Amino acid sequence: MKKIKVNLDKKVSSSYEICIGYDIVDRIGLIIAKNLPARHYLIITDSNVSALYGEAFLNRLRGMGISVDMIDFPAGEDSKNITAALAIVERMIELGADRSSALLALGGGVVGDMTGFIASTFMRSVPYINVPTTLMAQVDSSIGGKTAIDLPEGKNLLGTFYQPKGVVIDVKFLDTLPEVEFHNGLAEVIKYGIIEDIELFRFLEEHVRAIKERDCEILVKIIENSCRIKKGIVEIDEKDKGLRRILNFGHTIGHAIEAESHYTVAHGVAISLGMVAAVRISEKLYDLPGEERNRIENLMKTVGLPCRIPHTVTNNGILSRLKMDKKKEGSVIHFVLLKKMGMPFINGGVPESVLGETLEGMRK
Ligand SMILES: NC(=O)c1ccc[n+]([C@@H]2O[C@H](COP(=O)([O-])OP(=O)(O)OC[C@H]3O[C@@H](n4cnc5c(N)ncnc54)[C@H](O)[C@@H]3O)[C@@H](O)[C@H]2O)c1
Ligand SMILES: [Zn+2]
Repeated sequence: MKKIKVNLDKKVSSSYEICIGYDIVDRIGLIIAKNLPARHYLIITDSNVSALYGEAFLNRLRGMGISVDMIDFPAGEDSKNITAALAIVERMIELGADRSSALLALGGGVVGDMTGFIASTFMRSVPYINVPTTLMAQVDSSIGGKTAIDLPEGKNLLGTFYQPKGVVIDVKFLDTLPEVEFHNGLAEVIKYGIIEDIELFRFLEEHVRAIKERDCEILVKIIENSCRIKKGIVEIDEKDKGLRRILNFGHTIGHAIEAESHYTVAHGVAISLGMVAAVRISEKLYDLPGEERNRIENLMKTVGLPCRIPHTVTNNGILSRLKMDKKKEGSVIHFVLLKKMGMPFINGGVPESVLGETLEGMRK
């Protein structure tokens, strides 16, 4: 028997830079020239972002002598599907896209996930750069190379791991972001503070007002810290086999609440509730200090995230969603809980009575 080894250590070649600043979008020309030289570029965006920034972005790139076109699709999670992806690909082909093309994802997590998915599969992959325009995408979805589209059977069921060639985060985009979307991203930032960085948590506590006013210097700082945390975790566990799971803090119960509300409860609100539940369970079962639980709940309240479950979502509904997860995952649901702030761990199952009591407590 002969053996031929296919060496695929991609670590160096798949590394990339994240650039963060206020009003830096012009630098994209330089970044493209350095990291993503292609014959032809395609901006993929959604209808909202296109109306706000599309023309200006397109013209800026064309003004730099770059050959570029733009494709947009209707904004919203409902577009994150195979039909919309195929429509984009057909348009790409009409516009002459081939293996020497590159994609630029201009938008929130939906645009980023879809564009990454198309980039990873179109002609067996073309490179792409993320230009995230929501806080959620700037602190979370644009980094780490998880791409996906939804199927009727569930969210993110068809996807790949495919890293971008670069991420350009211009905090100026957040000037126009609706409040509810801003809160979605803020919930993820608080999550990073709780699981990984007490300094970030303290910084958030001290700058609530500036954050609410979207002070650009403060935002640049918290986005930079968030990106550092996410990239640190992704570097260790790119394919989500271990450590990356701590990023699911608040998401197990959060997803159950989101789904049970038929997605009328926003992601950020749902995971805030999930984080409060996880913190209270941690206090009950693992002696998380009550003082830390208080700090976490207080920060949520002061930034405007809820700690109470809306009555449109029942405890039984949440519990049966969790049981459905349990069937998918095996015998137990793994929750991310806390020994203390900055010390998350994956727990091997929470008794249903504790879950029920905790949810009940979050209605008072
Ligand atoms: N790949 C990952 O690792 C990862 C991580 C977390 C979430 N996600 C995915 O991200 C998606 C959610 O992302 P999202 O929260 O950014 O939602 P989104 O992309 O739907 O954007 C939210 C809304 O804000 C609008 N918008 C975007 N930028 C704007 C701006 N600057 N000004 C005004 N409006 C703007 C959009 O048009 C949209 O209506 C979900 O599909 C989720 O599965 C992926
Ligand atoms: Zn999330």
